[in-house]
Amino acid sequence: MLEKWLLESNYTVVFTGAGMSTESGLPDFRSSKGLWKKKDPARLASTDALNNNVHEFIDFYRDRVLGVKEYQPHEGHLILAKWEKQGIIQSIITQNVDGFHQLAGSKKVAELHGTLQKLHCQACGNIYSSEEYINEEYYCVCGGILRPSVVLFGESLPEKAFQFALEEAHKSELFIVLGSSLTVTPANQFPLIAKEQGSKLVIVNHDPTEFDMYADHVIRDRKIGEVLQQLSKNI
Ligand code: APR
Repeated sequence: MLEKWLLESNYTVVFTGAGMSTESGLPDFRSSKGLWKKKDPARLASTDALNNNVHEFIDFYRDRVLGVKEYQPHEGHLILAKWEKQGIIQSIITQNVDGFHQLAGSKKVAELHGTLQKLHCQACGNIYSSEEYINEEYYCVCGGILRPSVVLFGESLPEKAFQFALEEAHKSELFIVLGSSLTVTPANQFPLIAKEQGSKLVIVNHDPTEFDMYADHVIRDRKIGEVLQQLSKNI
């Protein structure tokens, strides 16, 4: 059925969460082995942590930067990039900060939560590569602290990515969620916006989500990589 929908749809948008990158080796957040099962996001991934708990904040994010440098996109990322080139999908809205969609070759990607591939100075905004963290360089030439260019809890989403995602959700005829618990707002509103304007909604996710009841099709029992490889054989 999904093959048929993918071939019939004139505008397909893929929405990804951390479950898209677990098969690359990166942990997700809320499944049984997720990051937030062991660590408290409020203590680590928040503006409060950056301002009042900076050493733990930097340790946490240096680990995650090392992770995205150590692992790489898997077959599923490459299939999505191939489908964009073939015109089978039109864009990707991602909550992920690993940059794996772009590394796999996807061009039209909205990074709702920013990226771990870059850092910027908390004081002057200067942009650096996240290699600085790997080299244990934590300060800007201006003396300000360098932080990853991710959206921390308590911060608003990047305007450009948000607007692009909004346009894509409104244009979509088929909206496919891959690997998200859909628990974080406002990112979790995009599947609803797509559905409300007439899009077919598909959710591929191991754990149930609160949006499954709105979906036209839910796949729980197969990994994302396997689903994408199976589809890629048939279209
Ligand atoms: N195949 C299918 N589903 C998977 C796979 C897989 N290989 N691996 C994990 N999953 C599912 C899990 O069951 C889980 O429900 O992916 C989902 C990932 O959900 P979360 O860990 O909550 O990740 P996400 O939805 O992306 O979190 C949103 O929360 O902490 C913030 O900013 C962070 O962007 C993140 C946001």
